[in-house]
Amino acid sequence: MGKIKARLSSVLLILFASFLVSNTASADKLNVEARNEAFAKDHKDQYDSWRATSELDTLGGGLDEYPDMVILWAGYPFAKDYKKARGHFYAITDIRQSLRTAAPMKDTDGPLPMACWSCKSPDVARLIDEGGEDAYFEGMWARGGSQVVNPIGCGDCHDTASKEFAEGKPALYMSRPYTERGLEAISKPFDKASRLDQQSMVCSNCHVEYYFSGKNKAVKFPWDKGITVEKMEEYYDNIAFSDWTHALSKAPMLKAQHPEYETWSQGIHGKNNVTCIDCHMPKVQNADGKLYTDHKIGNPFDRFSESCSSCHTQSKQQLQDVVASRKEAVRELKKKAERQLVHAHFEAKAAWDAGATEEEMKPILQDIRHAQWRWDYAIASHGIHMHAPEVGLKVLGTSLDKSAEARTKLARLLATKGITAPVALPDLSTKADAQKALGMDMQKLESEKQEFLKTRVVEWDNEAKKEGRLLNQ
Ligand code: HEC
Ligand code: HEC
Ligand code: HEC
Ligand code: HEC
Repeated sequence: MGKIKARLSSVLLILFASFLVSNTASADKLNVEARNEAFAKDHKDQYDSWRATSELDTLGGGLDEYPDMVILWAGYPFAKDYKKARGHFYAITDIRQSLRTAAPMKDTDGPLPMACWSCKSPDVARLIDEGGEDAYFEGMWARGGSQVVNPIGCGDCHDTASKEFAEGKPALYMSRPYTERGLEAISKPFDKASRLDQQSMVCSNCHVEYYFSGKNKAVKFPWDKGITVEKMEEYYDNIAFSDWTHALSKAPMLKAQHPEYETWSQGIHGKNNVTCIDCHMPKVQNADGKLYTDHKIGNPFDRFSESCSSCHTQSKQQLQDVVASRKEAVRELKKKAERQLVHAHFEAKAAWDAGATEEEMKPILQDIRHAQWRWDYAIASHGIHMHAPEVGLKVLGTSLDKSAEARTKLARLLATKGITAPVALPDLSTKADAQKALGMDMQKLESEKQEFLKTRVVEWDNEAKKEGRLLNQ
Protein backbone atom coordinates (compact mmCIF):
# COMPACT_ATOMS: atom_id res chain seq x y z
CA MET A 1 0.00 0.00 0.00
CA GLY A 2 2.72 2.35 1.15
CA LYS A 3 4.70 1.50 -1.99
CA ILE A 4 1.80 2.24 -4.30
CA LYS A 5 1.17 5.52 -2.59
CA ALA A 6 4.79 6.40 -3.02
CA ARG A 7 4.57 5.50 -6.66
CA LEU A 8 1.35 7.36 -7.12
CA SER A 9 2.78 10.42 -5.50
CA SER A 10 5.89 10.25 -7.67
CA VAL A 11 3.65 9.94 -10.73
CA LEU A 12 1.73 12.92 -9.45
CA LEU A 13 4.98 14.73 -8.86
CA ILE A 14 6.10 14.03 -12.42
CA LEU A 15 2.71 15.09 -13.74
CA PHE A 16 2.86 18.23 -11.64
CA ALA A 17 6.42 18.93 -12.73
CA SER A 18 5.52 18.53 -16.40
CA PHE A 19 2.52 20.78 -15.84
CA LEU A 20 4.88 23.36 -14.40
CA VAL A 21 7.27 22.99 -17.32
CA SER A 22 4.55 23.33 -19.93
CA ASN A 23 3.06 26.16 -17.97
CA THR A 24 6.30 28.12 -17.83
CA ALA A 25 6.84 27.33 -21.50
CA SER A 26 3.49 28.83 -22.38
CA ALA A 27 4.06 31.65 -19.91
CA ASP A 28 7.27 32.38 -21.88
CA LYS A 29 5.16 32.67 -24.98
CA LEU A 30 2.99 35.29 -23.36
CA ASN A 31 5.93 37.44 -22.30
CA VAL A 32 5.25 40.26 -24.70
CA GLU A 33 1.77 41.76 -24.76
CA ALA A 34 1.83 43.68 -28.03
CA ARG A 35 -1.74 44.98 -27.88
CA ASN A 36 -1.41 48.48 -26.47
CA GLU A 37 -5.13 48.65 -25.67
CA ALA A 38 -4.66 45.84 -23.13
CA PHE A 39 -3.15 48.50 -20.81
CA ALA A 40 -5.70 51.25 -21.36
CA LYS A 41 -7.44 50.60 -18.05
CA ASP A 42 -4.62 49.71 -15.64
CA HIS A 43 -2.17 52.37 -16.82
CA LYS A 44 -4.58 55.03 -17.90
CA ASP A 45 -2.34 58.13 -17.73
CA GLN A 46 0.46 56.44 -19.64
CA TYR A 47 -1.90 54.87 -22.16
CA ASP A 48 -3.84 58.08 -22.83
CA SER A 49 -0.68 60.13 -23.28
CA TRP A 50 0.83 57.41 -25.51
CA ARG A 51 -2.32 57.45 -27.62
CA ALA A 52 -2.04 61.23 -27.92
CA THR A 53 0.94 60.71 -30.26
CA SER A 54 -1.91 60.33 -32.79
CA GLU A 55 -2.30 64.12 -32.53
CA LEU A 56 1.19 64.48 -34.08
CA ASP A 57 -0.21 63.70 -37.49
CA THR A 58 1.54 66.00 -39.97
CA LEU A 59 3.13 64.21 -42.90
CA GLY A 60 5.15 65.99 -45.54
CA GLY A 61 8.56 67.54 -46.01
CA GLY A 62 11.10 65.02 -47.22
CA LEU A 63 11.37 64.68 -51.00
CA ASP A 64 8.71 67.35 -51.58
CA GLU A 65 10.85 69.88 -49.76
CA TYR A 66 14.23 68.63 -51.04
CA PRO A 67 13.90 67.19 -54.58
CA ASP A 68 17.71 66.81 -54.81
CA MET A 69 17.37 63.84 -52.45
CA VAL A 70 15.60 61.89 -55.22
CA ILE A 71 18.85 62.06 -57.22
CA LEU A 72 20.97 61.14 -54.19
CA TRP A 73 18.89 57.97 -53.74
CA ALA A 74 18.59 57.04 -57.43
CA GLY A 75 18.03 53.30 -57.75
CA TYR A 76 17.01 52.91 -54.10
CA PRO A 77 13.45 52.76 -52.64
CA PHE A 78 13.92 56.12 -50.84
CA ALA A 79 13.84 57.86 -54.25
CA LYS A 80 10.19 56.77 -54.56
CA ASP A 81 8.96 58.17 -51.28
CA TYR A 82 10.38 59.78 -48.17
CA LYS A 83 8.52 61.97 -45.72
CA LYS A 84 9.26 63.50 -42.36
CA ALA A 85 8.50 61.32 -39.34
CA ARG A 86 5.35 61.78 -37.24
CA GLY A 87 3.90 60.33 -34.05
CA HIS A 88 4.61 56.73 -32.97
CA PHE A 89 0.90 55.98 -33.33
CA TYR A 90 1.29 56.07 -37.15
CA ALA A 91 4.23 53.69 -37.51
CA ILE A 92 2.17 50.83 -39.00
CA THR A 93 -0.05 53.07 -41.14
CA ASP A 94 2.97 54.85 -42.58
CA ILE A 95 5.05 51.81 -43.47
CA ARG A 96 2.03 50.26 -45.22
CA GLN A 97 1.36 53.45 -47.16
CA SER A 98 4.93 54.25 -48.10
CA LEU A 99 5.76 53.63 -51.76
CA ARG A 100 9.03 52.15 -50.49
CA THR A 101 7.27 48.95 -49.41
CA ALA A 102 5.55 48.83 -52.85
CA ALA A 103 2.55 46.53 -53.33
CA PRO A 104 3.44 42.92 -52.52
CA MET A 105 0.27 40.90 -53.24
CA LYS A 106 1.78 37.56 -52.14
CA ASP A 107 3.70 36.73 -48.93
CA THR A 108 6.80 35.94 -50.98
CA ASP A 109 6.75 39.14 -53.05
CA GLY A 110 9.46 41.79 -52.56
CA PRO A 111 10.98 44.23 -52.62
CA LEU A 112 11.69 44.53 -48.90
CA PRO A 113 12.61 41.95 -46.25
CA MET A 114 10.93 41.21 -42.89
CA ALA A 115 13.61 43.33 -41.20
CA CYS A 116 11.71 46.45 -42.32
CA TRP A 117 9.11 45.86 -39.60
CA SER A 118 11.74 45.92 -36.88
CA CYS A 119 11.27 49.49 -35.63
CA LYS A 120 7.50 49.68 -36.05
CA SER A 121 5.84 47.51 -33.44
CA PRO A 122 5.86 45.54 -30.19
CA ASP A 123 4.65 42.60 -32.33
CA VAL A 124 8.29 42.36 -33.45
CA ALA A 125 9.34 41.80 -29.83
CA ARG A 126 6.50 39.28 -29.49
CA LEU A 127 7.50 37.33 -32.63
CA ILE A 128 11.18 37.22 -31.60
CA ASP A 129 10.14 36.09 -28.13
CA GLU A 130 7.92 33.35 -29.53
CA GLY A 131 10.11 31.94 -32.28
CA GLY A 132 13.58 33.47 -32.06
CA GLU A 133 15.34 35.96 -34.30
CA ASP A 134 16.01 33.64 -37.27
CA ALA A 135 12.34 32.72 -37.59
CA TYR A 136 11.33 36.37 -37.33
CA PHE A 137 13.74 37.66 -39.98
CA GLU A 138 12.99 34.86 -42.47
CA GLY A 139 11.35 35.95 -45.72
CA MET A 140 9.89 39.07 -47.25
CA TRP A 141 8.15 42.03 -45.57
CA ALA A 142 4.69 40.93 -46.79
CA ARG A 143 4.93 37.73 -44.73
CA GLY A 144 4.56 39.80 -41.56
CA GLY A 145 1.49 41.75 -42.74
CA SER A 146 -1.12 40.10 -40.51
CA GLN A 147 1.34 39.59 -37.62
CA VAL A 148 2.88 43.03 -37.15
CA VAL A 149 -0.18 45.18 -36.59
CA ASN A 150 0.15 47.22 -33.38
CA PRO A 151 2.11 50.49 -33.61
CA ILE A 152 5.18 51.23 -31.42
CA GLY A 153 3.98 50.82 -27.87
CA CYS A 154 4.25 49.45 -24.35
CA GLY A 155 5.87 46.12 -25.27
CA ASP A 156 8.69 47.91 -27.12
CA CYS A 157 10.04 49.46 -23.92
CA HIS A 158 8.43 47.63 -20.97
CA ASP A 159 8.61 44.08 -19.71
CA THR A 160 4.82 43.77 -19.93
CA ALA A 161 4.76 40.37 -18.21
CA SER A 162 6.61 41.52 -15.08
CA LYS A 163 5.09 42.01 -11.66
CA GLU A 164 6.74 45.46 -11.44
CA PHE A 165 4.99 46.68 -14.57
CA ALA A 166 1.62 45.41 -13.31
CA GLU A 167 2.31 47.42 -10.15
CA GLY A 168 2.87 50.58 -12.21
CA LYS A 169 6.70 50.63 -12.17
CA PRO A 170 8.63 51.19 -15.43
CA ALA A 171 10.32 47.74 -15.71
CA LEU A 172 12.24 48.97 -18.78
CA TYR A 173 13.68 46.06 -20.75
CA MET A 174 15.54 45.34 -23.96
CA SER A 175 12.98 44.14 -26.47
CA ARG A 176 15.43 43.50 -29.35
CA PRO A 177 18.36 41.05 -29.01
CA TYR A 178 20.24 42.81 -31.85
CA THR A 179 20.14 46.08 -29.87
CA GLU A 180 21.46 44.24 -26.84
CA ARG A 181 24.41 43.02 -28.96
CA GLY A 182 24.97 46.53 -30.33
CA LEU A 183 25.13 47.97 -26.82
CA GLU A 184 27.51 45.19 -25.75
CA ALA A 185 29.77 46.08 -28.70
CA ILE A 186 30.16 49.60 -27.26
CA SER A 187 30.67 48.17 -23.75
CA LYS A 188 27.32 49.39 -22.47
CA PRO A 189 25.36 46.20 -21.73
CA PHE A 190 21.72 47.05 -20.98
CA ASP A 191 21.44 44.83 -17.90
CA LYS A 192 24.36 46.56 -16.17
CA ALA A 193 23.30 50.07 -17.18
CA SER A 194 21.97 52.67 -14.76
CA ARG A 195 18.32 53.68 -14.79
CA LEU A 196 19.24 56.90 -16.62
CA ASP A 197 21.23 55.04 -19.28
CA GLN A 198 18.41 52.57 -19.77
CA GLN A 199 16.00 55.42 -20.38
CA SER A 200 17.91 56.38 -23.55
CA MET A 201 18.70 52.79 -24.47
CA VAL A 202 15.05 51.93 -24.99
CA CYS A 203 15.01 54.57 -27.75
CA SER A 204 18.19 53.00 -29.20
CA ASN A 205 16.10 50.00 -30.26
CA CYS A 206 15.07 52.12 -33.23
CA HIS A 207 16.64 55.60 -33.27
CA VAL A 208 20.02 54.27 -34.41
CA GLU A 209 22.05 53.35 -37.49
CA TYR A 210 21.72 49.70 -38.58
CA TYR A 211 21.99 47.55 -41.69
CA PHE A 212 20.67 44.24 -42.92
CA SER A 213 23.23 41.45 -42.75
CA GLY A 214 23.51 37.79 -43.74
CA LYS A 215 21.19 35.59 -45.75
CA ASN A 216 18.22 36.39 -43.52
CA LYS A 217 18.80 40.13 -43.91
CA ALA A 218 18.83 40.45 -40.11
CA VAL A 219 19.28 43.81 -38.37
CA LYS A 220 22.82 44.57 -37.19
CA PHE A 221 24.30 47.77 -35.74
CA PRO A 222 27.64 48.79 -37.33
CA TRP A 223 29.05 49.76 -33.94
CA ASP A 224 31.93 47.28 -33.56
CA LYS A 225 34.54 50.03 -34.04
CA GLY A 226 32.54 52.88 -32.49
CA ILE A 227 29.57 55.12 -33.20
CA THR A 228 31.10 58.21 -34.82
CA VAL A 229 30.64 58.84 -38.53
CA GLU A 230 34.27 57.86 -39.24
CA LYS A 231 34.19 54.66 -37.18
CA MET A 232 31.02 53.38 -38.79
CA GLU A 233 32.35 54.30 -42.24
CA GLU A 234 35.50 52.32 -41.47
CA TYR A 235 33.37 49.37 -40.34
CA TYR A 236 31.34 49.38 -43.55
CA ASP A 237 34.43 49.81 -45.75
CA ASN A 238 36.18 46.88 -44.03
CA ILE A 239 33.33 44.49 -44.74
CA ALA A 240 32.83 46.06 -48.21
CA PHE A 241 29.15 46.56 -47.44
CA SER A 242 26.87 48.64 -49.62
CA ASP A 243 23.11 49.12 -49.48
CA TRP A 244 22.83 49.63 -53.23
CA THR A 245 24.64 50.68 -56.38
CA HIS A 246 23.80 54.22 -57.40
CA ALA A 247 21.76 54.33 -60.63
CA LEU A 248 23.73 57.25 -62.12
CA SER A 249 27.25 57.18 -60.71
CA LYS A 250 27.37 53.40 -60.02
CA ALA A 251 28.98 54.19 -56.64
CA PRO A 252 28.61 51.52 -53.92
CA MET A 253 26.33 53.49 -51.59
CA LEU A 254 25.50 53.47 -47.91
CA LYS A 255 22.08 54.56 -46.65
CA ALA A 256 22.19 55.96 -43.14
CA GLN A 257 19.09 55.18 -41.10
CA HIS A 258 18.51 57.56 -38.20
CA PRO A 259 21.50 57.63 -35.85
CA GLU A 260 19.87 59.84 -33.20
CA TYR A 261 21.19 57.82 -30.26
CA GLU A 262 24.73 58.05 -31.66
CA THR A 263 24.64 61.81 -32.32
CA TRP A 264 22.82 62.64 -29.08
CA SER A 265 25.54 60.84 -27.13
CA GLN A 266 28.21 63.06 -28.78
CA GLY A 267 26.34 66.29 -27.98
CA ILE A 268 26.44 68.43 -24.83
CA HIS A 269 23.29 66.89 -23.32
CA GLY A 270 24.31 63.32 -24.08
CA LYS A 271 27.76 63.95 -22.58
CA ASN A 272 26.06 65.22 -19.41
CA ASN A 273 23.72 62.21 -19.48
CA VAL A 274 20.63 64.33 -20.00
CA THR A 275 18.52 61.49 -21.42
CA CYS A 276 15.98 61.36 -24.25
CA ILE A 277 13.35 61.02 -21.51
CA ASP A 278 14.35 64.25 -19.72
CA CYS A 279 13.25 66.18 -22.79
CA HIS A 280 10.82 63.94 -24.71
CA MET A 281 9.02 62.16 -21.83
CA PRO A 282 9.11 64.41 -18.75
CA LYS A 283 7.29 63.64 -15.53
CA VAL A 284 3.98 65.55 -15.39
CA GLN A 285 0.97 65.71 -13.04
CA ASN A 286 -2.42 64.19 -13.69
CA ALA A 287 -5.71 65.79 -12.55
CA ASP A 288 -5.27 64.26 -9.07
CA GLY A 289 -1.79 65.71 -8.71
CA LYS A 290 -0.11 62.33 -9.19
CA LEU A 291 3.17 62.33 -11.13
CA TYR A 292 3.48 60.13 -14.19
CA THR A 293 5.67 59.91 -17.28
CA ASP A 294 4.22 61.79 -20.23
CA HIS A 295 4.15 59.28 -23.10
CA LYS A 296 3.22 61.78 -25.79
CA ILE A 297 6.66 61.67 -27.38
CA GLY A 298 6.96 64.68 -29.66
CA ASN A 299 8.53 68.13 -29.58
CA PRO A 300 9.79 68.90 -26.04
CA PHE A 301 9.02 72.60 -26.53
CA ASP A 302 5.33 71.66 -26.27
CA ARG A 303 6.02 70.75 -22.62
CA PHE A 304 8.60 73.44 -21.97
CA SER A 305 7.99 73.93 -18.24
CA GLU A 306 8.47 70.21 -17.51
CA SER A 307 11.27 69.58 -20.04
CA CYS A 308 13.89 72.32 -20.63
CA SER A 309 12.76 74.39 -17.64
CA SER A 310 13.54 71.64 -15.17
CA CYS A 311 17.23 72.48 -15.76
CA HIS A 312 17.39 75.82 -17.59
CA THR A 313 16.41 79.30 -16.43
CA GLN A 314 16.15 80.90 -19.90
CA SER A 315 12.72 81.66 -21.35
CA LYS A 316 11.06 79.42 -23.89
CA GLN A 317 11.50 82.10 -26.56
CA GLN A 318 15.23 82.41 -25.89
CA LEU A 319 15.87 78.69 -26.18
CA GLN A 320 13.58 78.30 -29.16
CA ASP A 321 15.50 81.07 -30.93
CA VAL A 322 18.81 79.32 -30.24
CA VAL A 323 17.45 76.03 -31.60
CA ALA A 324 15.84 77.70 -34.63
CA SER A 325 19.05 79.46 -35.65
CA ARG A 326 21.00 76.20 -35.35
CA LYS A 327 18.35 74.46 -37.42
CA GLU A 328 18.77 77.06 -40.15
CA ALA A 329 22.56 76.71 -40.11
CA VAL A 330 22.30 72.92 -40.49
CA ARG A 331 19.67 73.29 -43.21
CA GLU A 332 21.82 75.64 -45.26
CA LEU A 333 24.83 73.36 -45.15
CA LYS A 334 22.64 70.34 -45.84
CA LYS A 335 21.35 71.93 -49.05
CA LYS A 336 24.88 72.79 -50.18
CA ALA A 337 26.09 69.25 -49.50
CA GLU A 338 23.13 67.86 -51.48
CA ARG A 339 23.83 70.09 -54.49
CA GLN A 340 27.48 69.03 -54.63
CA LEU A 341 26.47 65.37 -54.50
CA VAL A 342 23.92 65.85 -57.29
CA HIS A 343 26.67 67.31 -59.49
CA ALA A 344 29.06 64.50 -58.57
CA HIS A 345 26.55 61.75 -59.47
CA PHE A 346 25.77 63.31 -62.87
CA GLU A 347 29.43 64.00 -63.62
CA ALA A 348 30.31 60.40 -62.77
CA LYS A 349 27.58 59.24 -65.15
CA ALA A 350 29.03 61.50 -67.86
CA ALA A 351 32.45 59.96 -67.23
CA TRP A 352 31.10 56.41 -67.61
CA ASP A 353 29.26 57.47 -70.77
CA ALA A 354 32.51 58.90 -72.13
CA GLY A 355 34.20 55.53 -71.66
CA ALA A 356 35.89 55.83 -68.25
CA THR A 357 37.24 52.53 -66.88
CA GLU A 358 36.49 50.83 -63.55
CA GLU A 359 40.02 51.57 -62.45
CA GLU A 360 39.74 55.27 -63.25
CA MET A 361 36.40 55.51 -61.47
CA LYS A 362 37.20 53.54 -58.32
CA PRO A 363 38.76 56.31 -56.19
CA ILE A 364 36.09 58.77 -57.33
CA LEU A 365 33.24 56.45 -56.42
CA GLN A 366 34.79 55.89 -53.00
CA ASP A 367 34.80 59.68 -52.43
CA ILE A 368 31.15 59.90 -53.49
CA ARG A 369 30.26 57.01 -51.17
CA HIS A 370 31.94 58.73 -48.24
CA ALA A 371 30.54 62.17 -49.04
CA GLN A 372 26.99 60.90 -49.18
CA TRP A 373 27.33 58.69 -46.12
CA ARG A 374 28.49 61.71 -44.13
CA TRP A 375 25.67 63.91 -45.43
CA ASP A 376 23.14 61.18 -44.58
CA TYR A 377 24.54 60.48 -41.09
CA ALA A 378 23.99 64.14 -40.25
CA ILE A 379 20.61 64.75 -41.82
CA ALA A 380 19.02 61.38 -41.04
CA SER A 381 19.76 62.12 -37.37
CA HIS A 382 16.51 63.98 -36.94
CA GLY A 383 16.79 66.78 -34.42
CA ILE A 384 20.61 66.93 -34.78
CA HIS A 385 20.42 70.75 -34.71
CA MET A 386 19.18 70.37 -31.13
CA HIS A 387 20.97 67.20 -30.02
CA ALA A 388 24.46 67.90 -31.37
CA PRO A 389 24.60 70.88 -33.73
CA GLU A 390 28.41 71.01 -33.79
CA VAL A 391 28.55 67.35 -34.84
CA GLY A 392 25.98 68.00 -37.56
CA LEU A 393 27.86 70.98 -38.98
CA LYS A 394 31.24 69.29 -38.80
CA VAL A 395 30.04 66.10 -40.47
CA LEU A 396 28.30 68.08 -43.23
CA GLY A 397 31.54 70.02 -43.68
CA THR A 398 33.47 66.79 -44.28
CA SER A 399 30.77 65.73 -46.74
CA LEU A 400 31.45 68.90 -48.72
CA ASP A 401 35.20 68.18 -48.63
CA LYS A 402 34.73 64.65 -49.98
CA SER A 403 32.39 65.87 -52.73
CA ALA A 404 34.93 68.50 -53.70
CA GLU A 405 37.62 65.81 -53.95
CA ALA A 406 35.36 63.66 -56.10
CA ARG A 407 34.47 66.57 -58.38
CA THR A 408 38.10 67.69 -58.79
CA LYS A 409 39.09 64.17 -59.85
CA LEU A 410 36.04 64.00 -62.13
CA ALA A 411 36.91 67.28 -63.83
CA ARG A 412 40.42 65.97 -64.58
CA LEU A 413 39.11 62.63 -65.81
CA LEU A 414 36.41 64.24 -67.99
CA ALA A 415 39.05 66.52 -69.52
CA THR A 416 41.07 63.46 -70.57
CA LYS A 417 37.92 62.28 -72.40
CA GLY A 418 37.57 65.61 -74.17
CA ILE A 419 34.75 66.93 -71.98
CA THR A 420 35.57 70.36 -70.63
CA ALA A 421 32.15 72.04 -70.51
CA PRO A 422 30.25 71.72 -67.21
CA VAL A 423 27.97 68.66 -67.09
CA ALA A 424 24.43 70.08 -67.22
CA LEU A 425 21.79 69.07 -64.70
CA PRO A 426 18.20 68.26 -65.69
CA ASP A 427 15.31 70.24 -64.21
CA LEU A 428 15.12 69.25 -60.54
CA SER A 429 12.72 71.93 -59.34
CA THR A 430 10.18 69.52 -57.83
CA LYS A 431 10.05 65.91 -56.64
CA ALA A 432 8.11 65.02 -59.80
CA ASP A 433 10.76 66.66 -62.02
CA ALA A 434 13.56 64.75 -60.30
CA GLN A 435 11.70 61.43 -60.54
CA LYS A 436 11.01 62.11 -64.21
CA ALA A 437 14.68 62.82 -64.79
CA LEU A 438 15.39 59.29 -63.52
CA GLY A 439 12.66 57.79 -65.71
CA MET A 440 10.60 56.59 -62.75
CA ASP A 441 6.97 55.64 -63.49
CA MET A 442 5.33 57.07 -60.38
CA GLN A 443 1.76 56.67 -61.61
CA LYS A 444 2.15 52.92 -61.82
CA LEU A 445 3.64 52.73 -58.32
CA GLU A 446 0.83 54.87 -56.90
CA SER A 447 -1.99 52.90 -58.45
CA GLU A 448 -0.48 49.54 -57.42
CA LYS A 449 -0.20 50.92 -53.91
CA GLN A 450 -3.85 51.98 -53.78
CA GLU A 451 -4.94 48.53 -54.90
CA PHE A 452 -2.70 46.91 -52.28
CA LEU A 453 -4.13 49.09 -49.50
CA LYS A 454 -7.73 48.35 -50.53
CA THR A 455 -7.30 44.58 -50.78
CA ARG A 456 -4.24 43.06 -49.14
CA VAL A 457 -4.04 45.36 -46.13
CA VAL A 458 -7.74 44.89 -45.37
CA GLU A 459 -7.17 41.12 -45.39
CA TRP A 460 -4.20 41.52 -43.04
CA ASP A 461 -6.29 43.43 -40.51
CA ASN A 462 -9.20 40.99 -40.75
CA GLU A 463 -6.89 38.06 -40.09
CA ALA A 464 -5.18 39.84 -37.20
CA LYS A 465 -8.57 40.58 -35.62
CA LYS A 466 -9.74 37.01 -36.09
CA GLU A 467 -6.57 35.72 -34.41
CA GLY A 468 -6.97 38.17 -31.54
CA ARG A 469 -3.79 40.12 -32.38
CA LEU A 470 -5.65 43.43 -32.64
CA LEU A 471 -8.01 44.74 -29.98
CA ASN A 472 -10.75 47.27 -30.68
CA GLN A 473 -9.16 50.69 -30.91
C1 HEC B 1 10.12 50.36 -31.80
C2 HEC B 1 10.85 51.46 -32.43
C3 HEC B 1 10.89 52.81 -31.75
C4 HEC B 1 11.19 53.09 -30.43
C5 HEC B 1 11.50 52.10 -29.32
C6 HEC B 1 11.17 54.51 -30.32
N1 HEC B 1 10.87 55.10 -31.53
FE1 HEC B 1 10.58 57.08 -31.90
N2 HEC B 1 9.97 56.67 -33.79
C7 HEC B 1 10.02 55.43 -34.38
C8 HEC B 1 9.46 55.52 -35.73
C9 HEC B 1 9.35 54.37 -36.72
C10 HEC B 1 9.04 56.86 -35.91
C11 HEC B 1 8.34 57.46 -37.14
C12 HEC B 1 6.86 57.13 -37.10
C13 HEC B 1 6.13 57.58 -38.35
O1 HEC B 1 6.46 58.64 -38.91
O2 HEC B 1 5.21 56.86 -38.78
C14 HEC B 1 9.40 57.57 -34.67
C15 HEC B 1 9.17 58.92 -34.44
C16 HEC B 1 9.67 59.61 -33.34
C17 HEC B 1 9.62 61.05 -33.16
C18 HEC B 1 8.99 62.05 -34.13
C19 HEC B 1 7.63 62.45 -33.65
C20 HEC B 1 7.07 63.59 -34.47
O3 HEC B 1 5.98 64.07 -34.12
O4 HEC B 1 7.69 64.03 -35.44
C21 HEC B 1 10.26 61.34 -31.98
C22 HEC B 1 10.48 62.69 -31.36
C23 HEC B 1 10.69 60.07 -31.41
N3 HEC B 1 10.30 59.05 -32.26
C24 HEC B 1 11.39 59.95 -30.22
C25 HEC B 1 11.58 58.74 -29.55
C26 HEC B 1 12.11 58.63 -28.21
C27 HEC B 1 12.56 59.77 -27.36
C28 HEC B 1 12.13 57.28 -27.91
C29 HEC B 1 12.54 56.61 -26.62
C30 HEC B 1 11.81 57.03 -25.43
C31 HEC B 1 11.60 56.57 -29.06
N4 HEC B 1 11.28 57.49 -30.02
C32 HEC B 1 11.47 55.20 -29.15
C33 HEC B 1 10.47 54.26 -33.80
C34 HEC B 1 10.72 54.08 -32.44
C1 HEC C 1 9.41 54.35 -26.27
C2 HEC C 1 9.41 53.70 -24.99
C3 HEC C 1 8.13 53.59 -24.22
C4 HEC C 1 6.89 53.24 -24.68
C5 HEC C 1 6.49 52.96 -26.11
C6 HEC C 1 6.03 53.17 -23.53
N1 HEC C 1 6.74 53.52 -22.42
FE1 HEC C 1 6.04 53.59 -20.52
N2 HEC C 1 7.79 54.41 -19.87
C7 HEC C 1 8.89 54.61 -20.66
C8 HEC C 1 9.89 55.28 -19.88
C9 HEC C 1 11.27 55.69 -20.39
C10 HEC C 1 9.37 55.47 -18.58
C11 HEC C 1 10.04 56.15 -17.40
C12 HEC C 1 11.14 55.32 -16.87
C13 HEC C 1 11.77 55.86 -15.62
O1 HEC C 1 11.15 56.69 -14.93
O2 HEC C 1 12.89 55.42 -15.34
C14 HEC C 1 8.05 54.87 -18.61
C15 HEC C 1 7.23 54.75 -17.50
C16 HEC C 1 6.06 54.00 -17.47
C17 HEC C 1 5.35 53.59 -16.29
C18 HEC C 1 5.80 53.84 -14.86
C19 HEC C 1 5.06 54.98 -14.21
C20 HEC C 1 5.42 56.29 -14.81
O3 HEC C 1 4.48 56.94 -15.33
O4 HEC C 1 6.59 56.70 -14.77
C21 HEC C 1 4.24 52.90 -16.71
C22 HEC C 1 3.18 52.26 -15.84
C23 HEC C 1 4.25 52.90 -18.14
N3 HEC C 1 5.36 53.56 -18.60
C24 HEC C 1 3.27 52.35 -18.93
C25 HEC C 1 3.28 52.34 -20.33
C26 HEC C 1 2.18 51.88 -21.16
C27 HEC C 1 0.87 51.34 -20.64
C28 HEC C 1 2.58 52.00 -22.46
C29 HEC C 1 1.78 51.69 -23.71
C30 HEC C 1 0.50 52.32 -23.85
C31 HEC C 1 3.93 52.54 -22.44
N4 HEC C 1 4.30 52.75 -21.14
C32 HEC C 1 4.70 52.80 -23.57
C33 HEC C 1 9.05 54.24 -21.97
C34 HEC C 1 8.02 53.81 -22.79
C1 HEC D 1 18.03 68.31 -24.19
C2 HEC D 1 16.78 67.89 -24.70
C3 HEC D 1 16.71 66.70 -25.64
C4 HEC D 1 17.30 65.48 -25.50
C5 HEC D 1 18.20 64.99 -24.38
C6 HEC D 1 16.91 64.70 -26.64
N1 HEC D 1 16.11 65.43 -27.46
FE1 HEC D 1 15.27 64.84 -29.22
N2 HEC D 1 14.67 66.75 -29.59
C7 HEC D 1 14.67 67.79 -28.67
C8 HEC D 1 14.04 68.95 -29.26
C9 HEC D 1 13.82 70.28 -28.59
C10 HEC D 1 13.65 68.59 -30.57
C11 HEC D 1 12.93 69.44 -31.60
C12 HEC D 1 13.86 70.46 -32.19
C13 HEC D 1 13.13 71.49 -33.00
O1 HEC D 1 12.19 72.12 -32.49
O2 HEC D 1 13.50 71.68 -34.17
C14 HEC D 1 14.06 67.18 -30.74
C15 HEC D 1 13.86 66.45 -31.89
C16 HEC D 1 13.97 65.05 -31.96
C17 HEC D 1 13.58 64.24 -33.09
C18 HEC D 1 13.04 64.77 -34.41
C19 HEC D 1 11.59 64.97 -34.39
C20 HEC D 1 11.08 65.49 -35.70
O3 HEC D 1 9.86 65.49 -35.88
O4 HEC D 1 11.88 65.90 -36.55
C21 HEC D 1 13.81 62.93 -32.75
C22 HEC D 1 13.54 61.71 -33.60
C23 HEC D 1 14.37 62.93 -31.42
N3 HEC D 1 14.46 64.23 -30.98
C24 HEC D 1 14.75 61.80 -30.71
C25 HEC D 1 15.56 61.82 -29.57
C26 HEC D 1 16.22 60.68 -29.00
C27 HEC D 1 16.07 59.26 -29.51
C28 HEC D 1 16.97 61.12 -27.95
C29 HEC D 1 17.91 60.34 -27.08
C30 HEC D 1 18.86 59.45 -27.76
C31 HEC D 1 16.74 62.55 -27.84
N4 HEC D 1 15.90 62.94 -28.83
C32 HEC D 1 17.30 63.37 -26.86
C33 HEC D 1 15.23 67.74 -27.41
C34 HEC D 1 15.96 66.68 -26.89
C1 HEC E 1 18.15 67.35 -17.14
C2 HEC E 1 18.70 68.68 -17.37
C3 HEC E 1 18.53 69.34 -18.71
C4 HEC E 1 17.40 69.44 -19.48
C5 HEC E 1 16.04 68.83 -19.23
C6 HEC E 1 17.75 70.26 -20.61
N1 HEC E 1 19.05 70.64 -20.52
FE1 HEC E 1 20.03 71.90 -21.80
N2 HEC E 1 21.76 71.63 -20.74
C7 HEC E 1 21.87 70.84 -19.63
C8 HEC E 1 23.28 70.77 -19.26
C9 HEC E 1 23.85 70.00 -18.09
C10 HEC E 1 23.99 71.56 -20.19
C11 HEC E 1 25.48 71.81 -20.25
C12 HEC E 1 25.77 73.00 -19.42
C13 HEC E 1 27.23 73.34 -19.40
O1 HEC E 1 28.07 72.53 -19.74
O2 HEC E 1 27.50 74.48 -19.04
C14 HEC E 1 22.98 72.10 -21.11
C15 HEC E 1 23.27 72.98 -22.14
C16 HEC E 1 22.32 73.53 -23.00
C17 HEC E 1 22.59 74.54 -23.97
C18 HEC E 1 23.93 75.24 -24.17
C19 HEC E 1 24.93 74.33 -24.74
C20 HEC E 1 24.94 74.46 -26.19
O3 HEC E 1 24.49 73.54 -26.88
O4 HEC E 1 25.36 75.52 -26.66
C21 HEC E 1 21.41 74.80 -24.63
C22 HEC E 1 21.18 75.78 -25.75
C23 HEC E 1 20.42 73.93 -24.05
N3 HEC E 1 21.00 73.18 -23.06
C24 HEC E 1 19.10 73.87 -24.47
C25 HEC E 1 18.13 73.01 -23.92
C26 HEC E 1 16.77 72.88 -24.40
C27 HEC E 1 16.18 73.65 -25.55
C28 HEC E 1 16.15 71.96 -23.59
C29 HEC E 1 14.75 71.43 -23.70
C30 HEC E 1 14.33 70.92 -25.00
C31 HEC E 1 17.13 71.51 -22.62
N4 HEC E 1 18.31 72.15 -22.86
C32 HEC E 1 16.88 70.59 -21.62
C33 HEC E 1 20.86 70.23 -18.94
C34 HEC E 1 19.56 70.09 -19.39
